[in-house]
Amino acid sequence: MTDSTWHSANEIQGIFDRIAPVYDQLNNTLSLGQHRIWKLMAVKWSEPQSGNFGLDLCCGSGDLAQLLARKVGKTGKVVGLDFSQEQLAIAHQRSKEKYPFLPLEWIEGDALNLPFADNSFDCATMGYGLRNVTDIPRCLGQLHRVLKSGSKVSILDFHRPSQPWMRSFQEWYLQNFVVPTADKFGLTEEYAYINPSLERFPTGSEQVKLAYQAGFTHAIHYPIAMGMMGVLVATK
Ligand SMILES: C[S@@+](CC[C@H](N)C(=O)[O-])C[C@H]1O[C@@H](n2cnc3c(N)ncnc32)[C@H](O)[C@@H]1O
Repeated sequence: MTDSTWHSANEIQGIFDRIAPVYDQLNNTLSLGQHRIWKLMAVKWSEPQSGNFGLDLCCGSGDLAQLLARKVGKTGKVVGLDFSQEQLAIAHQRSKEKYPFLPLEWIEGDALNLPFADNSFDCATMGYGLRNVTDIPRCLGQLHRVLKSGSKVSILDFHRPSQPWMRSFQEWYLQNFVVPTADKFGLTEEYAYINPSLERFPTGSEQVKLAYQAGFTHAIHYPIAMGMMGVLVATK
């Protein structure tokens, strides 16, 4: 049976290209500004140090990449990678205008086939990207490959809460706030995909198992925002 809510990589790329002009504004509205706090937590858990070489995978318009770049400082460097040209154009423009002093580089590429040598990075982040890739084990395998031994990746995404009442609240919130808000921007279809994508997304404990299967030596999943979001922290 065909799952009509399942998107191909090309469709996902198209969705994020179309969303790009309003992506940041919508994120602020839909999370009531909270996404900034969750992103700061994710960056902290990747344990960036001054002078590090960092990766922000599925960087979109570059929020996490710039937070990571602040931590590694002028002697370090952060690469933001995404396959949406439109998102990268905004990341590039924003970093040039707002924080030209940060050591950032933007690369168009595929999270399932990273254009980096093995053991390249000291730390890595990924925000709302893992749920969107078409092959999660492969993506974790790629992250494992490009990280140095002992380095951490911190992966922030939506999460289905374990308590039934919180799950119901999350579904209500997505259907009655997120989709109607996106509708005002003419992006109903683009945001209606969040709920089904979340239905398929591995739970925290499943993510931990997948991280071990990808070769990480330690993995832990932190539920945040009453379990509606989560951060997987995996150490190579
Ligand atoms: C929800 S956005 C998150 C953007 C940003 N990290 C943030 O937290 O705001 C997901 C991003 O993943 C990117 N993406 C999805 N699959 C990808 C893949 N296979 N390779 C590279 N980027 C991908 C999309 O283009 C999109 O920009």
